[in-house]
Amino acid sequence: MKKIIIFDTTLRDGEQSPGASLDIRQKVEVAHQLERLNVDVIEAGFPIASKADFEAVKLIAGDIKKPVICALARAKKEDIDAAYKSIKAAKKKRIHVFLATSKIHMKYKLRKAKEEILKQAVEAVKYARRKVEDVEFSPEDASRTEVDFLVQVVEAVIDAGATTVNIPDTVGYATPENFGRLIAYLMKEVDNIDKAVISAHCHDDLGMATANSLSAVKNGARQVECTINGIGERAGSAPLEEVVMAIKTRSDFYEVSTSVKIKELYKTSRLVSHLMGIKVQPNKAIIGKNAFSHESGIHQDGLIKERSTYEIMRPEDVGFSKSRLVLGRHSGRHAFKVRLKELGFNLGKKDAETAFGNFMRLANKKKEIYDEDLETIVEGQISEIPRVWKFRSMHITSETGSFPVAEVELESKGESLKKKASGDGPVDACYKAIDKIARIKGRLIDYSLQSVSRGKDALGEVTVKVKFKEREIIGKGSSTDILEASAKAYINAINKLIYISKRK
Ligand code: KIV
Ligand code: ZN
Repeated sequence: MKKIIIFDTTLRDGEQSPGASLDIRQKVEVAHQLERLNVDVIEAGFPIASKADFEAVKLIAGDIKKPVICALARAKKEDIDAAYKSIKAAKKKRIHVFLATSKIHMKYKLRKAKEEILKQAVEAVKYARRKVEDVEFSPEDASRTEVDFLVQVVEAVIDAGATTVNIPDTVGYATPENFGRLIAYLMKEVDNIDKAVISAHCHDDLGMATANSLSAVKNGARQVECTINGIGERAGSAPLEEVVMAIKTRSDFYEVSTSVKIKELYKTSRLVSHLMGIKVQPNKAIIGKNAFSHESGIHQDGLIKERSTYEIMRPEDVGFSKSRLVLGRHSGRHAFKVRLKELGFNLGKKDAETAFGNFMRLANKKKEIYDEDLETIVEGQISEIPRVWKFRSMHITSETGSFPVAEVELESKGESLKKKASGDGPVDACYKAIDKIARIKGRLIDYSLQSVSRGKDALGEVTVKVKFKEREIIGKGSSTDILEASAKAYINAINKLIYISKRK
């Protein structure tokens, strides 16, 4: 299968997203992750644009070994000089020169005639070729350029030494059929087309960046320019994860492949989203939170029976942990029971039916039902948690300037056990002493205290959420002494854990 070169421009076009700017250290961090993702080319920045851009490209060029490091330049000597200076240290380097060729851009932005543009493009490519062997040229706004002029420009820059010619749909105006036809036309009409790689660079203004890029591939393009999470100017660019996974999943149709390590896709997406502060929409293809989540009962039932009924890709392959069955009011009994089993509850037919009824009542009030909700439902059905450990007494000493010490006494099977521990506070000391007695290690995640009656001698009810290894358990305890209520809540959580583990 022919290989498609994946050119990542997250650090250049992607960084042009409003609010997406990164500092130098963050850019280097993203570049390292892109290297792990195994992209072929990293467009690291636009060095003439600012000192920070220049420095970032320079650092990346020195640090990153495997991919080609590319720097962007207008068709001007000073831009090309800055680009070259920034990537000089790179093992593999490329200069990417661009100049607009559409009527609108030439007339209003550049105020130049076709002949001047052609000459400038050729001279810039020749100048860049004197510095590096790998030169890319982009006729900006190519999709709105007169086709015959585009043919003329592409042919001339290849003659001048361009090794890659990128065809940008700068304003996201193209449609899949017409962009594919444009690529096919260039492949046919440009005499020296076999001397360069043809590339696609599509923006998503009409939501067609991925489709346009793939159509270009189908018609002969051998490089796709894209960004992680599809970030980029305005509506963004073709998302790398979509292009790569479409090529992989539908290799039967596209008959090409990429070298991207798809297992790194999710991690890369999270890193870029986190550093740029741009959230990924939940229903985003491939890397959105819901991309492998199923809520409808019919889908969940199908998926449990055979995954391929409702999944065309495996979540693990792109770095997700696994498919998620979201329990909500559209879910059915099958998914509900499977989830309970995964949580360690093996309920009999009658108990399972009651639990499902309680679950449905809750699901009608609450959008998503989490594992803790299910545990609360099932625990609520357990009439009495056996009190393996019982509270007997406690003694706490707390002095300003020193750590509090708690001595707790518990009873189990008629036997009494006492232990001492110190902690950051009296509750912490008390929980540590209980851990010692019960030979368990709990981590307090949540603690709340509520008064359940009035007056000075009000009864206080403490609710705790404790994490024991992977399991989170809610415990409750009450007393007029809040430290005693705290100890009882923690002991209740331990007793629940013992009970649930035994049922398992
Ligand atoms: O969208 C565009 O035309 C560009 C060029 C610089 C390639 O980003
Ligand atoms: Zn662009």
